[in-house]
Amino acid sequence: MPRTDIDWGSLGFGFSDVNCHIRYVWKDGAWSKPEFPVEPYITMHIGASCLHYGQECFEGMKAFRQKDGKIVIFRPEENAKRMYRTAVRTVMPPVPVEMFIEAAEEVVRRNEEFVPPYGTGGSLYLRPLLIGTGPQIGVAPAHEYTFMIMVMPVGAYYKGGLKPVRAVILDDWDRAAPNGMGDVKVGGNYAASLYAHEKAKREGWPVELYLDAKTHQYVEEFSTSNFLGIKADGTYVTPDSHSVLPSVTNMSLKECAADLGWKVECRKVPYGEIREFTEVAACGTAVVVTPVWEITRGSDVIKISDENTVGPHLQKLYDTVQGIQYGVLPDVHGWCHEVKM
Ligand code: COI
Repeated sequence: MPRTDIDWGSLGFGFSDVNCHIRYVWKDGAWSKPEFPVEPYITMHIGASCLHYGQECFEGMKAFRQKDGKIVIFRPEENAKRMYRTAVRTVMPPVPVEMFIEAAEEVVRRNEEFVPPYGTGGSLYLRPLLIGTGPQIGVAPAHEYTFMIMVMPVGAYYKGGLKPVRAVILDDWDRAAPNGMGDVKVGGNYAASLYAHEKAKREGWPVELYLDAKTHQYVEEFSTSNFLGIKADGTYVTPDSHSVLPSVTNMSLKECAADLGWKVECRKVPYGEIREFTEVAACGTAVVVTPVWEITRGSDVIKISDENTVGPHLQKLYDTVQGIQYGVLPDVHGWCHEVKM
């Protein structure tokens, strides 16, 4: 049962202590058995490759307490496959998909009381992490790795839930190079965005949007999430680019849109086309569907909608994906992975 000493309704998106995380070590070609440390700290060699050469990657997933009391993780296979691809790209031993899913189930089971009650709008956020922990002083992959999943109960990423935000494009900073690592989930992509992100926040924009690094002509993604735009005829448009992270939420929303009979286009999105969208959103595990009402680039301010209005298509997408996650709409695609207690 959920804890009674947590104010579930006022959760934001931040760290809080839970019972334990799950941890495995890879050494001499094999993964260890899992351990369940209670302390949220790890000890590692000062020469660990994650500290010096950024040999690290992570994932983001959510577990939901559904209306009928079941606890489910949303599409963990997709996150497992993405972490596998990221590990290959960063020359780390990939975590087998089955091990990843078993780890996710077990850490949720051991922290069941931190899965927010149905009806509070919260979820248990799972943050899998794979890092090089072996010492490596010459530039090369490490000989030892650690895979962990930490969990914490969370509410909305941006204050106010489904409240529209404004975004800014800062042309002096890029997120990911065309043949770089934008399509995998490494911490470096987020480090690359921090300077611009802090500047944007200081100047009044909670989120920044990146254009393609080579030409600055095409829309790529927001710092924390994918970009989606809706045309007046209801067409769902999202950028196709080698330097955009394949978001599990975006993938799911595209399928929901297609199920609803909307046209879905995954292609290059020229900057100028933003004006043609009647609704724009950031989408991702953490932000779910966050409407964007205005996008500023220098003196060009594109007003997409009213500051307080959530467009009908975004509202429908949000209600559909959350309805599936909380078990109030049929899970026709089998996206909800039940964690048996
Ligand atoms: C997620 O949506 O889970 C992410 O990993 C984005 C994160 C930077 C908050």
